Amino acid sequence: MISPEASNALNDHLNAELFSSYLYLSMSAYAAHKGWKGAASWLYVQAQEEMIHVQKMYAYIEDQDARVILEGIEKPPSDFGTMVELFDAVLAHERLVTGRIRDLMTHALEENDHATETFLQWFVTEQTEEEKSCKDVIDRLKLAGDTGLAIFMIDNELAARVLAPPAV
Ligand code: FEO
Repeated sequence: MISPEASNALNDHLNAELFSSYLYLSMSAYAAHKGWKGAASWLYVQAQEEMIHVQKMYAYIEDQDARVILEGIEKPPSDFGTMVELFDAVLAHERLVTGRIRDLMTHALEENDHATETFLQWFVTEQTEEEKSCKDVIDRLKLAGDTGLAIFMIDNELAARVLAPPAV
């Protein structure tokens, strides 16, 4: 069992993860519209991963005999600029999520809620990986320069990403 405050905070975050999925789906649609098929695929996988985060949060709230409450999902932007700007926006969003996870963890520690602390540890590790994979893409894009050929080559690399089963 978790406190009502913890339940509210986790529900709030579940909704934030839903928004993340919605945002990346919008980014994927934008990339597809621009003809960046690899980036569109990478972002589609990212959107799917966010739904895995939603499912994990959903299951944990229920396992703790608390109630899942869904809220409305904010409308995401639909224009994201150049490919570098697009991935800069991904990284900025992931850093925001990392801050939210940090706040959840701080709350769990303050409550001596060891079950939630252990549960959140997976998300702490996941955020490090997500920020790193996004930063790697940005670094490569900046290294290659903003030419059509460079974008074409990196877009092809991005197409290789597949949905990985979540580590337990
Ligand atoms: Fe669910 Fe990308 O954070």
